Amino acid sequence: MSQHVLVTGGAGYIGSHTVLELLQAGFEVTVLDNLDNSCEESLIRVQKLTDKEVTFHKIDLLDKDAVNKLFDENNFDSVIHFAGLKAVGESVDIPLRYYHNNITGTIYLLEVMKAHNCFNIVFSSSATVYGDPATVPITEAFPLSATNPYGRTKLFIEEMMRDLCISDERWTCVLLRYFNPIGAHESGWIGEDPNGIPNNLMPYIMQVAIGQREALNVFGNDYDTKDGTGVRDYIHVVDLALGHLAALNTLPNIEGCKPYNLGTGNGYSVLEVLEAARKASGKDIPHNIVERRPGDVAECFADPSLAQTELNWQAERGIEAMCDDSWRWQSQNPLGYKTDD
Ligand code: NAD
Ligand code: UFG
Repeated sequence: MSQHVLVTGGAGYIGSHTVLELLQAGFEVTVLDNLDNSCEESLIRVQKLTDKEVTFHKIDLLDKDAVNKLFDENNFDSVIHFAGLKAVGESVDIPLRYYHNNITGTIYLLEVMKAHNCFNIVFSSSATVYGDPATVPITEAFPLSATNPYGRTKLFIEEMMRDLCISDERWTCVLLRYFNPIGAHESGWIGEDPNGIPNNLMPYIMQVAIGQREALNVFGNDYDTKDGTGVRDYIHVVDLALGHLAALNTLPNIEGCKPYNLGTGNGYSVLEVLEAARKASGKDIPHNIVERRPGDVAECFADPSLAQTELNWQAERGIEAMCDDSWRWQSQNPLGYKTDD
């Protein structure tokens, strides 16, 4: 019998790509999402692409009764937990909303899982838990810290999961620390659809390339990096999705709470990404050098070897594929999932 996986936040950017890979690998998938930062269209397209069905429930994790009812009616083998708010700047302005949504939501989920004897969870953590790393590449053994409320929600949830696994050995909690996910499914049917002005580099670049914004602001060119601009470990969202499959498949061999970096191990500067995006789109992408963005670190890239050894996973897609696929999604869906009627 196929395994039944509950995916919280499964209508979102990384969630929808993961649901697609889960369906293709033969998992039965149920999605819980409140559609706060997504729409059901992503899952409709995933079903068309795979010719398989996803059961979708519009539920808020903070509605514990509804989550409980969903578990009463199903028999989940494991949970992949994407649901959360993720905008760093917004988390500084409205911290309580972030703490309540991300932390309380996770506590409710874990309580309901326990009450239904479901003890396997794969959690979306982030490289942000390494704060300002002293050196690169970053291994899972690096000290943890946070520089903003969003990062602290990730850090606290990781700590909660560590405590939970110590308290009860039936739990397995896999903490996947994502580096910088970009790109889209190669069909161009699903991708990242940010609300308003994008905070992140690739969606901003794509909106300049398509003509929706005038120029990219490059946040500082005086860092101690190869060309002075910030360096990050960009990872194709499909590779990231496959990392979740690898984690699920390895769950039976994992004991307690285990963190894994999901990155490529390669660092690219803002100017290098800009050049790769220019090649992929064939468009001129004007840019201005502006002040550093507060809170940004100079360099952040992973040592992904633990995931390679223990999860038997490694990223396969390079920066060209990331930019080609981002551009295909952007050019085929200039308004994202929205239509202009
Ligand atoms: P996303 O916003 O596209 O997806 C998150 C989904 O969770 C959305 O569909 C949203 O509607 C849903 N959601 C939020 N709060 C909810 C609640 N209380 N109940 C039910 N659903 C809720 O974001 P994403 O980029 O796909 O990120 C997924 C996860 O990965 C998040 O936890 C994020 O913090 C983490 N992460 C993302 C990045 C990144 O750069 N995209 C990097 C590191 C970690
Ligand atoms: N950048 C620009 N201009 C922009 C946007 C970004 O120059 O308009 C630069 C940033 O200064 C940085 C790089 O592009 O050097 C990447 O910035 P992003 O905002 O795309 O990504 P971050 O590395 O700042 O943050 C991302 C996620 C966080 C997560 C963190 C670590 O947004 O949620 O990775 O995983 F915590």
